[in-house]
Amino acid sequence: VASLLVTTEWSDWRNGVFWWIQSVYVQPEARRQGVFRALYAEVERRARVAGDVCGLRLYVAQDNAAARATYNALGMHETPYRMYEVDWTG
Ligand SMILES: CC(C)(COP(=O)(O)OP(=O)(O)OC[C@H]1O[C@@H](n2cnc3c(N)ncnc32)[C@H](O)[C@@H]1OP(=O)(O)O)[C@@H](O)C(=O)NCCC(=O)NCCS
Repeated sequence: VASLLVTTEWSDWRNGVFWWIQSVYVQPEARRQGVFRALYAEVERRARVAGDVCGLRLYVAQDNAAARATYNALGMHETPYRMYEVDWTG
């Protein structure tokens, strides 16, 4: 009923690895039942076991109020960073 994937990025500043949570999706009929909470808990458990992980990160659309509320509820906080890109797909 749900998906996410994890990619990794080494942080030179922290000399550790951030796990990026991406492609988060819970089917509409399964929402608000703790599905993402459970997925997040499992990602966190695996990341802590890995030993070299300095934290979890993700990006979210500014107008996605439900997702932002979810990440806040799970203890994540907004960073001071802004994301820049060049998108060649048109
Ligand atoms: C955002 C999303 C992943 C949340 O998944 P979920 O399984 O419904 O979340 P959970 O049931 O684990 O909720 C955990 C907590 O987050 C908060 N939360 C979840 N959905 C919320 C909503 N719509 N509004 C406000 N708070 C919300 C609540 O505090 C919730 O705890 P509670 O239900 O005990 O109050 C899901 O709504 C979704 O797939 N949305 C569409 C895709 C999407 O936006 N993906 C994110 C892209 S960055």
